[in-house]
Amino acid sequence: MTHEIAVIPGDGIGQEVTPAAVEVLEALDPEFTFTEAEAGDAVAEKTGKALPEETYELAASADATLFGAAGETAADVILPLRDAVDSFVNVRPAKAYPGVDAVRPETDLVFLRENTEGVYAGHEDRLTEDVATLTRVTTQSASRQLAEFACEYVDSDGFTIAHKANVMRETDGLFRDTVAAVAEERGVATDEVLMDAFATRVCLDPTQFDVVACPNLAGDVLSDLAAGLVGGLGLLPSANIGEQRALFEPVHGTAPDIAGEGVANPAATIISAAMLLEYLDYGEEADAVHAAVESTLAEGPRTPDLGGDASTSDVTNAIIDQL
Ligand code: NAI
Ligand code: MG
Repeated sequence: MTHEIAVIPGDGIGQEVTPAAVEVLEALDPEFTFTEAEAGDAVAEKTGKALPEETYELAASADATLFGAAGETAADVILPLRDAVDSFVNVRPAKAYPGVDAVRPETDLVFLRENTEGVYAGHEDRLTEDVATLTRVTTQSASRQLAEFACEYVDSDGFTIAHKANVMRETDGLFRDTVAAVAEERGVATDEVLMDAFATRVCLDPTQFDVVACPNLAGDVLSDLAAGLVGGLGLLPSANIGEQRALFEPVHGTAPDIAGEGVANPAATIISAAMLLEYLDYGEEADAVHAAVESTLAEGPRTPDLGGDASTSDVTNAIIDQL
């Protein structure tokens, strides 16, 4: 079956790392057709819209989307794009690779972040000059959907629920109780940790954790913290998964300090492309990409962010050679 893949490079190094990831996908010769579309600062300057209607429609109809990064307009691009794929979970692996200088080289975590509600549900008000308020939304249905995904994701292993239900009794209480109940129905073991305690414990010993399910804000912050433990933004992929389609993107932004120099690390986007392959049931190809990235990171060539002097295309070609 042919899959439609939307490719949205965006701005800055998005224009460099996204084509690199497409090259890796093409080398594997899956039955994909690629359609490219614009988003971000550059198209906003031309047309006044950071996310053109046709780009939204493309992401909303493609089987999967590969997105690079957008600059100052990032929020105007990525939030509606996540909505276009109806994404309910953000999967964010944080794994340290051999050969890469990491604060905690033993880190190997996956965050499953609720992707639609919590404090990011958009109910924020400025009541007076002195007072601003925010309504936090938690639903049983979104918590259940995340939990069902988590149970399938871990298969027979368990997962950790990170929350702050001791203070946010109603919202995080509902999240925690719902996720734990779904896991119990499915025979999946869970343990729980308060999110602030998690922040300390994961720094001291990341091997205590494996897969961590969290509400939206906690997932955002804690996965960035874990990114710090593994040694660099150039290596972190993510997937926004919906019921029908999904969007894959590196965690990093447009890196204006190095954009245009051809030295951006393509690994995060290539690992995101491996997650895309996995999502579309190209499991063997996905494993091959993961292995090729891992051995290239270990043996080199490496881009300057990892202490090397190789270019984006040197690294991309080395990964393709490993395949
Ligand atoms: P950034 O991730 O673009 O860069 C932070 C630092 O990491 C820079 O020193 C950069 O050179 C380095 N870096 C990032 N990715 C790299 C890679 N693949 N290879 C080598 N080095 C890499 O974050 P920053 O500087 O906070 O934001 C820059 C722009 O990107 C802003 O306009 C921001 O709005 C946007 N942004 C967009 C995101 C998205 O589209 N999802 C996410 C984060 C930021
Ligand atoms: Mg973030």
